[in-house]
Amino acid sequence: MLIAERDADDAGAVSEVVLDVAPPTPVVMVARCRAGLETLLAGELHDIGLQVDRLGPGLVRTTLAGPLVSLMAARTMLTAGAMVELHPERSRDAAASKDALAHQIAEAIARPEVLALLTAWTRGPIRWRLDFERGGHRRALVWAAAARTRELAPVLRNQPRASTWEFVVTADEQHLELRPHRYTDTRFTWRVADVPAASHPTIAAALARVAGAVAGEHVWDPFCGSGAELCERGRLGAAHLHGTDLDERALAATRQNLSAARLIATLTQADALAHPPPPPGFGLIITNPPLGRRLRGDAGALLERFAARVPSMLAPGGRLVWITPSPDRTGPVLRDAGLALGYARDIDLGGYEARLERWNRPAPHATAKAANRGKPGRR
Ligand SMILES: C[S@@+](CC[C@H](N)C(=O)[O-])C[C@H]1O[C@@H](n2cnc3c(N)ncnc32)[C@H](O)[C@@H]1O
Repeated sequence: MLIAERDADDAGAVSEVVLDVAPPTPVVMVARCRAGLETLLAGELHDIGLQVDRLGPGLVRTTLAGPLVSLMAARTMLTAGAMVELHPERSRDAAASKDALAHQIAEAIARPEVLALLTAWTRGPIRWRLDFERGGHRRALVWAAAARTRELAPVLRNQPRASTWEFVVTADEQHLELRPHRYTDTRFTWRVADVPAASHPTIAAALARVAGAVAGEHVWDPFCGSGAELCERGRLGAAHLHGTDLDERALAATRQNLSAARLIATLTQADALAHPPPPPGFGLIITNPPLGRRLRGDAGALLERFAARVPSMLAPGGRLVWITPSPDRTGPVLRDAGLALGYARDIDLGGYEARLERWNRPAPHATAKAANRGKPGRR
């Protein structure tokens, strides 16, 4: 019976997570992001009126009383899931055996409040699959959990290949995270073209959020690749967008993505180390540059040389928001040229770390004020 259910080819029956319906009762949700972006994600959730009650590496916890749509709009978020306790009354040791865990998973899924939530948030059959935060297939465990769930909640369908929901056992095996799997994600519809080293869109969104927007400013991505940062900054408000890249295929990808985002930009095939700024300079330089993983040669040296150019490229009051793989090399160059570090976070770029930074070029009045503060006789 279970085999027939898992192999059933009824994908024709539409099944998707409903984003515009409130849960029957408020639900604890965990939103996940790349490690290092949690304060930015928490800021996004705060902006949409959600209270964050816990932050951890790569995760933010909140309670949702309204529809999922607001939460799923957070641009720095990778996934979100409703948290269900697996075995509140048992100790960790009691969960050690495979069968015990399988039963706890099934019992958690079949709880009336969990079924009510899944029913409210699913249009069509409720299809699910089981995954593990720690990875691995653990087939015997999955099979046992699916068989037991079928007994307890026959309305649910364990159909891994067409699942509407992913139920993820957390690394500590204390919770099950119910993650929407099949739904319409409208956040990055501009992403129609790619390059091999394209920024993950949540990283581009993080850069744009750290940058903010000054209306009408000139914005430059010197290493624009597929234009993810230009698209994300462009959607924050009016700007003159400029992109350069050595590779004309990258510029073609940027052109397609900007067009999907309904943005226009000046795109130039040029070396970032030689491109001239428009007078009086760029208000914002925003970029996820080559980090050395695909670049032949020394990315640190390229970025040091680029950093040396930045102060003369920025308008007074302008800012550089970027990711640097070697902050110990690029930081002194920027600082010695008079820029001030306003934001720095080490972030996980998928198995390796780099630093997201914002540097500010002081505006003249800020410089004058600072100088005046030091003069005797002035208050
Ligand atoms: C990490 S990718 C950029 C990814 C981009 N943020 C995106 O979302 O697609 C780096 C890009 O820098 C370009 N590049 C490398 N050296 C360059 C240079 N000296 N001047 C301009 N572009 C360069 C590469 O062709 C590549 O497209």
